[in-house]
Amino acid sequence: MAGTNSKRILGLVGSPRKLGNCEVFIKELSTYISNKHTLNLIRMPLLNIVPCHACYKCIMDKPCLIKDNMGFLLDQILQCDALIIASPVYFLGTHSIFKRVLDRGFMFYKYIERTNNKPCVLVNFYGMEEKIGVAPQTLMTLAISLGMNIRANLSLKAALPGEVLMNEGYKKLAEKIGQTLFSDEIIVNSHGCPFCGCEIVRIGERGFICTVCHGHFSIDCNGNKVKIKRGDILGSSQHVLLHKEWLKSMKNKFLEEREEILRRVDKYKNIGEWIKP
Ligand SMILES: Cc1cc2nc3c(=O)[nH]c(=O)nc-3n(C[C@H](O)[C@H](O)[C@H](O)COP(=O)(O)O)c2cc1C
Repeated sequence: MAGTNSKRILGLVGSPRKLGNCEVFIKELSTYISNKHTLNLIRMPLLNIVPCHACYKCIMDKPCLIKDNMGFLLDQILQCDALIIASPVYFLGTHSIFKRVLDRGFMFYKYIERTNNKPCVLVNFYGMEEKIGVAPQTLMTLAISLGMNIRANLSLKAALPGEVLMNEGYKKLAEKIGQTLFSDEIIVNSHGCPFCGCEIVRIGERGFICTVCHGHFSIDCNGNKVKIKRGDILGSSQHVLLHKEWLKSMKNKFLEEREEILRRVDKYKNIGEWIKP
């Protein structure tokens, strides 16, 4: 039972495999958290998360009409003191459940002041050398959209269920992160974007553009990263509130221009046959 000074740790297990790498690593890490705590776990693939209807109701501060497990998940995130998210890499991305949750992310905006700055650890497990694809980007976008304070963003290679425990280096990492979870020490990706640490970039005309913070940077002939332009201050409550206002203005713009848009789209109404399973 959690006492009054006890911290609530929430582990989002992205794998369906019982005692797989995601599950045991979260558990291992939690054993090093020096604060008194309870660990709650959610097996994410078991959640029913329905795709966003794009109705913008939540942006207009109205309740989401979809009845699924999104409310439960948000509630658990609001109640926790720290979040650990672990996902297996599936076909060069995170488990799709995290993208499903992220696609409902406009719902986060109402709660940003309460999720802002909570410590968060991200872990991606992959099984084949270098075949991690874009997975770390999705988990990072999820954490940043909740305004979380990313303490560490790890990509760990372990293919067999639970194999992570055979790697002493990874266990040491779990120990370090567990011990520093509620401190100011951040375990950074020194090889990532010089603004936010994300490793996944687009190639622009003059260098690289981070796919999370959209900072621009290049790499000089000595291999040093050179900052060119800062991107958005994603994830801060200030950014979220500005984005929310912009989205509201877009909804209003649509209402103003609806007649003209409907006139133009009308002729496409009966083209093609919709088929269903
Ligand atoms: C459907 C499926 C797709 C996978 N795709 C990849 C992949 O693209 N790249 C990779 O390195 N490993 C891939 N893997 C391996 C898993 O990422 C790896 O085994 C991981 O440790 C699983 O974590 P878990 O033990 O918590 O389930 C895949 C595994 C499955 C079942």
